[in-house]
Amino acid sequence: MTEPSPSAEFAGTAQRPLSIVRADGAGLFDETGRRFVDLGATHGAGSLGAANPEVAAAIATQARSLLYLGSGYRSPVRAAFLEKLLGLLPPSFGRVFLSNSGTEAVEAGIKIARSATGRTKVVAARRGFHGRTMGSLSATWRKELREPFEPLVPGFEHVPFNDPTALESAVDDATALVLLEPVQGEGGVHVATEEFLRAARAACDRTGSLLAFDEVQTGVARTGRLFAFQRWNVVPDLLLLAKSLAGGVPIGATVTTREVEGRFRGSHHSTFGGNPLACAAGLAALDFVVRERLAERAERLGDVARRRLARLPAERVREVRGLGLLLGIELREKVAPYLAALEARGFLAIAAGATVLRLLPPLVIEERDWDAGLSAIEEVVAHGGR
Ligand SMILES: Cc1ncc(COP(=O)(O)O)c(C=O)c1O
Repeated sequence: MTEPSPSAEFAGTAQRPLSIVRADGAGLFDETGRRFVDLGATHGAGSLGAANPEVAAAIATQARSLLYLGSGYRSPVRAAFLEKLLGLLPPSFGRVFLSNSGTEAVEAGIKIARSATGRTKVVAARRGFHGRTMGSLSATWRKELREPFEPLVPGFEHVPFNDPTALESAVDDATALVLLEPVQGEGGVHVATEEFLRAARAACDRTGSLLAFDEVQTGVARTGRLFAFQRWNVVPDLLLLAKSLAGGVPIGATVTTREVEGRFRGSHHSTFGGNPLACAAGLAALDFVVRERLAERAERLGDVARRRLARLPAERVREVRGLGLLLGIELREKVAPYLAALEARGFLAIAAGATVLRLLPPLVIEERDWDAGLSAIEEVVAHGGR
């Protein structure tokens, strides 16, 4: 049973008794003015800081001239945002469907793949997470997220992550889509091997299936590349983005090729998808990410962290995994007390499953905050979660 919520909010989301009212860089401030360092509290949507001044200014300017316009009309700010986004991607990509969240980006990907291939089967990975609406939830692996809502959409099959042989044998002439995260975030921070991603590409090419990378969490400089797939240079047919793509303003993007779009039949639409505010925010966010070289920053700060975290005591820590500033510390015990102990010291981290402490800080985090956060983790681990 879910505990009744102490507030009016629906009780599906576990909440900490901490109220945040303001942000500055990686700093989050509560009602009393106490500063916490965000090591993951903004769930990857705050990569540019949860109150990026350039994003805020772009939204304010846009709101004064045009707050909302239906996607049936042309919009210069939408055109500029899409041009900017496509300019950062390989030339095979040429079309973008805009929505408002990660799960919608995934849903659009599933619909596009079904329609373009005339097939229904989707192959996803065990431990994968793709969202919580009915289609994306059908691709999500965790039993406790799925079971209360079954029956889900039929035709989804899950293969072990990083098992190329299992993947190759699951993908066949009935497969519309292979849907993978290059780094599984919610599922415990597991990095895909190049061999696995290449096998996925080859299996799709062999069978005429489409390959989608869900980069909702790994995209926009998080893993030390603008998009994680660029590390391996395995290019998918569909790229699914959300979280920090618009600097913290709700957005989802399903990026695909002109060729796939040409095979799409039917329609797909969202009232708020591609709205001027999100596009203005997205344009400002991408400008900021590129100009500030946030991918390189993520790579550098991630390397610093991995070197330090590798020295954590093996009797408490099973493994440290990740890429760039998406890191997972797998403990030998439950993570909840560790998160509470970090919070008491002024650092807000999150879990990825019961035993993994996940670090997903803003990419703009100051080196002294990152250093202090790592020191706090070392101390909390040394004290066994106290
Ligand atoms: C890889 C991945 N896909 C999809 C989603 C769903 O995104 P949203 O919560 O915006 O619907 C998430 C959210 O954490 C995610 O990490």
